Amino acid sequence: MSATHINERPFLGYGLGLRKDHYEAVLQDRPAVDWFEIISENYMVNGGKPLHYLDRIREHYPMVMHGVSLSIGSTETLDLDYLNRLKTLIARVEPAWFSDHLCWTGVQGVNLHDLMPLPYTEEAIAHVVERVQRVQDHIGRQMLLENVSSYVSYSDSQLSEWEFLCEVAERADCLILLDINNIYVSAFNHNSDPDRYLRAMPAERVYQFHLAGHTRQDDLIIDTHDQPIADPVFELYAAAVQHFGRVSTMIERDDNIPPLPELLDELARVRRIAEHQLKEQVA
Ligand SMILES: [Fe+2]
Repeated sequence: MSATHINERPFLGYGLGLRKDHYEAVLQDRPAVDWFEIISENYMVNGGKPLHYLDRIREHYPMVMHGVSLSIGSTETLDLDYLNRLKTLIARVEPAWFSDHLCWTGVQGVNLHDLMPLPYTEEAIAHVVERVQRVQDHIGRQMLLENVSSYVSYSDSQLSEWEFLCEVAERADCLILLDINNIYVSAFNHNSDPDRYLRAMPAERVYQFHLAGHTRQDDLIIDTHDQPIADPVFELYAAAVQHFGRVSTMIERDDNIPPLPELLDELARVRRIAEHQLKEQVA
């Protein structure tokens, strides 16, 4: 497995996260969404309504799968049962790709229900690389790793977050899901440069962008996914398109979910911004 050349990066267009609130509207109205991202864990079951809707919607739209509980950075052993269920779902959905977060979510059986950052050290790189390789071998495909929002940092860290992500991706030979909102949130919280983050990424490995809303509380921004995308994140997105070119982009909305037409309007704005940047590049 190896990262493809930047020109060969697949481009799905502009998508949304598939949420149960919109199942019926998606099936009835067939909105002009290029693709959907599903949360893998919502469908790693043996039956029931979610799978029923998933199969019917998949007939009409390309999909990618996004996981939240692989816990690739944890010191717990990799959960083989989880990986087997993930593999089964991948065979069912035939997604363009699957992803999870560069984080840890718990230890010693305790799930923190949060995506915790790792210390950016050589030891952590070696640990995560070995685990990503095992996941990719088990699933038989490359995976995408996503940068998380963070509110804390470790005094042990020797590298920046972007150096850490690059090293992991290169050594594990995996791909990258860049969450533009997360870059903005972490840069604000840690007083770092979001443009520097973008410029450091190996472009040929960046297969997907996430966009989402956040909530500002004085000197801290929380990655809440319950608001429209903020203007500075749109600006960073424009810079990302300028830098990377065409990258499959979607909006994550997980709380305070509006009616589908509202998200379609927001997605239309995403598309306009990207197409404008791409036209400028050609000119
Ligand atoms: Fe994300």
